[in-house]
Amino acid sequence: MRILVVYHSLTGNTRLVAEAIFEALPEPKDLKPLAQVTDLSEYDLVFIGFPVHSHSVPARMEPFLKSLPAGLRIALFMTHGSIPGTRLAREALEQALILVGQTRVLGTFTCRGKVSEQAMEILSRSPEHKLWTEMAVTARNHPDRHDLEDARIFALWVADLARQ
Ligand SMILES: Cc1cc2nc3c(=O)[nH]c(=O)nc-3n(C[C@H](O)[C@H](O)[C@H](O)COP(=O)(O)O)c2cc1C
Repeated sequence: MRILVVYHSLTGNTRLVAEAIFEALPEPKDLKPLAQVTDLSEYDLVFIGFPVHSHSVPARMEPFLKSLPAGLRIALFMTHGSIPGTRLAREALEQALILVGQTRVLGTFTCRGKVSEQAMEILSRSPEHKLWTEMAVTARNHPDRHDLEDARIFALWVADLARQ
């Protein structure tokens, strides 16, 4: 079973989670940023990671998710600044699950990721983002070692499911 871990990451949080997932997986495996992925035909299982941007899947990720072949076994992972369980944190994952169409989703994993100072500065200027930016403050130490350990265990769990 050949496994690919593909990720999109602007400020490095999702890359850290991707690396933890990759590290835990058995060979043969590849780790690639989204921009380097051209052909999925050699893979039996694909982990796909992205950050939440404006409550959604990042625009660059959308065409990739839509292009996945029906029946492909995938697992999604996502980092976000907002508090887990809030609508803000759920919406992007729900959107991604629609975009992946007829693939076989074996699991999803989410954790918080610190929001860059630049993004906080821009967001805090607009009143509609006020509550969101207050939430984002407590994401500042994430992903932490517990998040990364959870990501590794998630990876093993999904790989085990894919073998069945
Ligand atoms: C432009 C921008 C928009 C963001 N919008 C959201 C959002 O709507 N909801 C949220 O929970 N986090 C949001 N975040 C926070 C990121 O999802 C979070 O910091 C994530 O871990 C970044 O991942 P990365 O370092 O892999 O790029 C936003 C960050 C940026 C830079």
